Amino acid sequence: MTHPAPAAAHAPDYVWRISPYVGGKPIEELARELGLAPGSIVKLASNENPRGPSPRALAAVAASAGDITRYPDGNGYALKHALAQRHGVAIEQIVLGNGSNDVLELVTQAFLRPGDDAVYSAHAFAVYPLATQARGARGIVVPARELGHDLDAMRAAITPATRVVFVANPNNPTGTWLEPAALEAFVAGVPADVLIVLDEAYDEYLEPAAASRAIGWVARHPNLVVSRTFSKAYGLAALRVGYGVMDAAVADLVNRVRQPFNVNLLAQAAALAALDDTAYVDESRRLNRAGLAQLRAGMERLGVASLPSHGNFLLAQVGDAARVYDSLLRQGVIVRPVANYGLPEWLRITVGLPAENERFLAALGRARG
Ligand SMILES: Cc1ncc(COP(=O)(O)O)c(C=O)c1O
Repeated sequence: MTHPAPAAAHAPDYVWRISPYVGGKPIEELARELGLAPGSIVKLASNENPRGPSPRALAAVAASAGDITRYPDGNGYALKHALAQRHGVAIEQIVLGNGSNDVLELVTQAFLRPGDDAVYSAHAFAVYPLATQARGARGIVVPARELGHDLDAMRAAITPATRVVFVANPNNPTGTWLEPAALEAFVAGVPADVLIVLDEAYDEYLEPAAASRAIGWVARHPNLVVSRTFSKAYGLAALRVGYGVMDAAVADLVNRVRQPFNVNLLAQAAALAALDDTAYVDESRRLNRAGLAQLRAGMERLGVASLPSHGNFLLAQVGDAARVYDSLLRQGVIVRPVANYGLPEWLRITVGLPAENERFLAALGRARG
């Protein structure tokens, strides 16, 4: 095969085999395509916080804007210090990421090479296969149980070549959640020389009694990496800031492959302010709980099955999902097809504001009518 750019031929096969990540359709793109006013479009496609950012985060961004001529603190001291205090860990145990996506990538960069295996569940977050493939490693996809992670099967799937196991709790896009006791037993049962990356991007949406305590397990299980993000309940998706908590020796290695200034100045300032705004996160959780109930009840009225979810999104079984997705788009409502997750009959809907949820339900009724 000849390539228009000859150098492309030399890219590794495992890079050629990657199917790029497809995100939620941007509002501006749909507005251009359909000649709609962007303000008339409802986007429930990327598990963003529909409330807009915390005023404290906005104020912190404004206060830092004058400093953008200088590089940020590449060590993220102030944010890491606050996170270390919040979680009761040492500052050396925290790695900041350009979104938690970056943390997932960095862990694979530091720990996976061609010939290694990574284990993850079917229907788990799309970045696990992507990050695995980008290192030339092999992904072992473990069949799901009732669309959730089958931890026993995941433990059994670990091979001598396995270096990383990914677990999402709650999982995107299924919204499934693992009981802490089962998860802790799993962590204890994974060989000590295999890293467990526990992705808790949606943890803040869990009711406080169910919130994860897994960061507290890292001291006993130095092969555990817990990732969190400011993109969801903290409402800062565009700034790209997340973090991982891990054993200091693991963090040291991950930091070696991290680009020096991976988290920008405004992101660090906003995250620091958002961390303190517990009222904002509490209200986001309350609004989300009400929105999930609104969406599920509305879909039940329409005769559409949906899955209970522990995140800020839910799956709806709509049948011909590609057709329903298109119809929703034409009505100015963007949701997320999940055929790429092996779920061709389902759509994922992010919980919006009450009026946005209503817009979606009305549009879904018309799409199916
Ligand atoms: C399960 C899960 N993990 C990680 C991420 C990455 O988010 P971010 O890079 O914005 O922190 C997402 C985003 O949708 C997610 O759903």
